[in-house]
Amino acid sequence: MKNSIALIGFMGTGKSAVARLLAQELHKEFIELDGVVERIAGLSIPEIFNTGGETLFREYEIEAVKQAVKRKNMVMACGGGVVLNRINIDRMKAECTLVLLTASPDVILQRISGHSTRPLLKAPTREAVEEMLAFRRPFYERAYDIKVNTSPRTVEGVVKEIIRKLKLNEHSSGKIRA
Ligand code: S3P
Repeated sequence: MKNSIALIGFMGTGKSAVARLLAQELHKEFIELDGVVERIAGLSIPEIFNTGGETLFREYEIEAVKQAVKRKNMVMACGGGVVLNRINIDRMKAECTLVLLTASPDVILQRISGHSTRPLLKAPTREAVEEMLAFRRPFYERAYDIKVNTSPRTVEGVVKEIIRKLKLNEHSSGKIRA
């Protein structure tokens, strides 16, 4: 049984809040992958995007995943685009159970509106969210072990559901859907 968990999913699905509480409940270390990226780069996420665009950010992100998965017994909140590079999925799968958090476009839009720190969705519109979601969905679907829909749930409710599915996952080798 892998003792680390990585939370993946689109921006605004609640990965950070859920990972923090899940780590607390399971007595594991909490890691924010974007924080690891910032430490390696010595720059904030918006500064990395301003300097070298998404390409540079993804390079730092690959290095951050490589370093982060070495930590044992942790819960890691990943950035929404971590699944775009196969090497990240492979490295995380080797050490972590991958938990996909989903939410409807409306809920995502509601959660990310007013947050201007996301370089890829500075002025989020429904169209932009739907387009990006459609492109990324196959990457998320391919990667996950456990999937939880966060739209109808509180952070506490999502954590409970993840813990329930983690227990089911111990006895099964397939994907645990929402
Ligand atoms: C990104 C999501 C962000 C951050 C970066 C890129 C993405 O993290 O990693 O801005 O490509 O979806 P959150 O998902 O925590 O917002």
